[in-house]
Formats: sequence, structure tokens, C-alpha cells
Amino acid sequence: MILAGRDELDELRDRPLDRSYNAPAGDMFEVEMRILMVASEAAPFAKTGGLADVVAALPRALARLGHFVDVVIPRYRGVAAGEPIARVTVPLGGQVAETTLHAVAEPGVRTIFADHAGYFDRDYLYGAVGRDYPDNPERFAFLARAALEWAAASGERYDAIHAHDWQAGLVPVLLRQMAPPLRGVPTVFTIHNLAYQGVFDASWLPRLGLGWELMSVNALEYWDRISFLKGGIVFSRLITTVSPRYAREIQTPDYGFGFDGIFLSRSADLVGILNGIDYDEWNPARDPYLPEPFDASRLNGKAAAKRMVLEMFGLPVTHEGRRRPLVGMISRLVDQKGFDLLAELGDELPRLDASFVLLGSGERRYEAHWLALAARYPERIAAKIGFDEAAAHRIEGGADLFMMPSQFEPCGLNQMYSLRYGTVPLVRATGGLYDTVRNFDSTTGSGTGFTFDEYSPRALLGTLRWALDTYRNRAAWRRMQIAGMREDYSWDASAREYVEAYERAARLP
Ligand code: ADP
Ligand code: GLC
Repeated sequence: MILAGRDELDELRDRPLDRSYNAPAGDMFEVEMRILMVASEAAPFAKTGGLADVVAALPRALARLGHFVDVVIPRYRGVAAGEPIARVTVPLGGQVAETTLHAVAEPGVRTIFADHAGYFDRDYLYGAVGRDYPDNPERFAFLARAALEWAAASGERYDAIHAHDWQAGLVPVLLRQMAPPLRGVPTVFTIHNLAYQGVFDASWLPRLGLGWELMSVNALEYWDRISFLKGGIVFSRLITTVSPRYAREIQTPDYGFGFDGIFLSRSADLVGILNGIDYDEWNPARDPYLPEPFDASRLNGKAAAKRMVLEMFGLPVTHEGRRRPLVGMISRLVDQKGFDLLAELGDELPRLDASFVLLGSGERRYEAHWLALAARYPERIAAKIGFDEAAAHRIEGGADLFMMPSQFEPCGLNQMYSLRYGTVPLVRATGGLYDTVRNFDSTTGSGTGFTFDEYSPRALLGTLRWALDTYRNRAAWRRMQIAGMREDYSWDASAREYVEAYERAARLP
């Protein structure tokens, strides 16, 4: 049952008035598309990482190109936004749930929240203190099914359905159970991180309303269990991932997490599209969290941001403290992000001529390691465990170097924020980090950051030493900062590539 009538829904959609304004140059995107997106996070409503940033920014970028996007995410605890727009019945295995959908609308984009207090009114998105909620298969099967029931009941004619990560992996699987014309809508599945595969016991199949025929190597079966991620990969027409380099990497055993064979066999349908960053949210020239605005032509404001970060984190604000290069990190504290390498460095970091600020949360052992380092070296190392949007912006603004020694990195957003904020990134050359950071060349002075290849503490430390030496060469450093600030990682180009992906998926069988 739909609560709002068609007219009200159209109003909610709040179409941009001047279509010609939205029409891009050339005739590629003359036809406006309607896209249904399904994901488990979208900023500012629910965020644990970059997925939320992408699911917030990509729909807006598509809307700027003249398209319409409905994004369905769970109505987690604390999401108060939205007006009720519909009630739909969601069958799942033997159970049937009624859900009210709430929506928030802005021009071209509606964020629709699927409500189920039993599943989503909880302290965390995926699980408490390192343990996933045991009913995650049911929670995210519900999300997928609710999105499809909405699509069926609303009468919207979507041109493509775009699902993100394992939490939405059942969307293309369950779509096969829906009636036409919905069943024939082209599907695109985006992998933001292959390390999270949504693997569960096969006994879930009947409870999720799925047949045992899906327990096959050509379907959901993954080492005798089922994988939602595999469902997304196998049953979507087109697969995308979030950088061209990562699209190549996941076809190799080192980065494929056991899926490399599947990717190789579907390499014609696998596309790498680099994430953009939201230039409204991340712009040092008008970032409300920074003490002074700055940009490539007025870099002085960075000094005020550095001072603020030193104060906030209790590091010395003396002349010496301000002179010393400040290395920032904002991250989930997990192996993926290189925290094992950093831990192996032991007490090497505080011996360098630099200060370090870390903002993050994740594995207890890494939280404990950084808190202990900060306690031992209060003049050099500061760590804040937790999630803090304001502090993240200030670190991006105030740090001199930003460190991301990732083991693998599908795209990574923080290095792009750093480039924009004149904070020189030091990264391992993998995935999106490889695609976005150009290594400094001391003979020509070109480059936007520092990169290293070998995943070892030695390579990381050597590169960090090289970066800190280079920092003393103020002219070279400034050139690098400005080169980074001039790179264009806005969403515009990437959104066009997604439109091409939707069009391509529509042409595929
Ligand atoms: P991932 O999604 O793998 O964690 P990304 O670099 O793509 O990595 O995105 C991480 C996003 O989460 C960025 O927007 C980053 O600023 C943010 N973030 C991560 N940890 C924190 C934290 N502790 N506080 C605030 N923001 C954080
Ligand atoms: C994942 C990846 C990260 C990427 C983000 C958004 O969390 O780990 O590299 O930037 O998704 O696509």
C-alpha cells in the first residue's frame, strides 16, 4: 500500500526546473534515467566509512547530470529524518513484515529509509565490539527485499538498479523472484571492498526465501557456505569497483580473496570507476571546521589549522612544535589500512623529527598500541579513538603529511581529501592510492605525494624518512602541495562513467 499518491511522490522528487541547465555538453546523456540504489550506509544518516560518502555524493552528481536517483538504506537508530511515503509488505522466507518507508527529498535524489525496529533499532550498524550481529543475513536480505517491494509497489519505472557491497548483494538475486517489468531491469553491482563478503551458513537459504539451487559454484556457494557478495557479482549484469587499478588487482590471487577466478571469467563485465570526492563537503576555502579558509593561492591558512590540531590533540604548540612536520592519519584501525606495519615499527615513529596525530577506531589491539604510544611520547604522538567528523576535517587541514600505508585500498577517499587540503599524501601504491597519488620525483620536482610498493615496515619507514627530508625543502614542498590541490577529483567525471555503466548494463543480456 502506498501512502502518498503519485502526484505527491512526484512533488517529493522535486525535479530541477531548468532541464537545459542540467544537460551536459554533447548528446551522450540526453535521456534522463531513473536509478534505484540500495546500500547499507549513506552520509549523513549512517556512516562507518567511505561507502557512506560515495552513496551520498554519487546520487547528487547523477542528479546534476539530469538523472533521478532513489537510494534505499535502513532506518537505523537515530535516523529521525524523513516523511512516510509508503507501506510495503516484505516477504522473507516464511515470514512477512510490514514496513513503512520514510523519505527525504532533494532535487533529483530521494533517500528512502526501510524501517524494521527489530533489525535496525540497534546501537551499531553491523555488530557490537568486533562481533557481527548473528542475524545480519536476515537484516540485509530484508533491506534488499524491501527495496524491491518498494520498486514494485510504487510503479516507478527504473532504468537501472545499482546495489553496493555485500549488504545489497541479494538485490539482483531476489530481483529474479519479482514480476516483470521490474525483473528485467538492468543491474549494476559495485564492490567497495572485497574483504567483506557476507559469508554465512548455507542453512540461511530457506530462511531468506532462497532455493537450494543457489547453493552452486555458479551462484552463491563459497567454500561450502553462501556469500551475499558473490550473489551480487554473479547475478548482476555489470560489476564495477571503485578504481581502475583495483579492478585489475582483484583479478589476481593476491587481491582476489578467492574471487579472482570469477572476476577473470567476467572481466569483460568488470569496470573500475574512480570515486570522486564531494567538493562541497571537502573544500578548504569554505570548510566551517577550519579556523581560516585557504586554497592553492593562499596557503597561509594551513598554519592556523595546524595550530588548532596541535592544541586539540595536546601536542606542543611551541615554535618547535609548529615547525616539526605533522603527520595525520584518519582511519579504521584494521590490517587493511597498514596498522600491522605501523605496529611493527614500534617506537621508530617518535624518534623521527615529526609529530603524529591519529584519529580512528577499530581493532582493540591497534587502539591499545596507539594509546600506549601516545602515553609514552606525549610530545610527539597523539591518538583519539572514536569517530569525529570535525576532527577529521581539521586534521586534513592542519597536517603536513597524510599517511595511508594500506595493504590494499579499493579507492580510498582520505588521500584525495588530503590532496585538496594541501596535505601531502604518503601512500602504498595500491588500488585507488596508485591511481590518485603521483610519486615525487626529486630531479624534476614533479609529483603530488610519496608512494612505496613493498608491503613492509622497512619500505614504509624509508619513504617516511624521504618525505620528512623533502619537507625541509620548502620550495619543493610547496610545489607538491599546489600540484595536489590542482588535481580534479570531483564527482562529475565519475558520475558520467556510472551513467555509461547503466547504459551498458541495459544493452547486456
Ligand atoms: P574506508 O571506507 O575503507 O574506511 P575511505 O578512505 O574510503 O576508507 O573512507 C573513509 C571515510 O571515513 C573518510 O571520509 C574518512 O574521513 C572517514 N573516517 C574514517 N575514520 C574516521 C574517524 N575516526 N572519524 C571521522 N571520520 C573517519
Ligand atoms: C571501501 C574501501 C575504500 C573506498 C570506499 C568507498 O570502504 O575500503 O577504499 O574508498 O569503500 O568506495
